[in-house]
Amino acid sequence: MTILPITTYPDPLLLKKARAIENPKDPAIQELILDMFETMEKNNGIGLAAPQVGKSLRLCVIKLEGKSYVLINPVFKSKSWKKTVAEEGCLSLPGQFMQVKRSQKVKVKALDRKGKEVVIQAQDMLARAFQHEIDHLNGTLIIEKRVKEKIKK
Ligand code: NI
Repeated sequence: MTILPITTYPDPLLLKKARAIENPKDPAIQELILDMFETMEKNNGIGLAAPQVGKSLRLCVIKLEGKSYVLINPVFKSKSWKKTVAEEGCLSLPGQFMQVKRSQKVKVKALDRKGKEVVIQAQDMLARAFQHEIDHLNGTLIIEKRVKEKIKK
């Protein structure tokens, strides 16, 4: 396994829509998944999207509360109307933290690391992580989504 260099803002790759993975079982994709987990853990992240390691592919990995998730070509099946605001960071924006509004619950359809279709329901932190990482696949960063703070006088 290899620790990959993290692409940071304003690298144009981060602002581009990533392309779908045609063959999840491709050994290069399997290796990328392992490398992404290692890279994420080394950097103390809870999620990492392929564009953040220089690959414009629809793949992201998440590790939260001891559970690992691999999402290949993910799509939202639903997003709750109810939203919450919380602080987020991003490995591509080192040292920056922003308040971001997200749906409290989401349902995501994706392929898992074996290429099998899965539907995952998530809420709270996990739902937030899914939305953050899937945003990366669409070229969207938290800079665009942040809740503008009111200026106190
Ligand atoms: Ni991020």
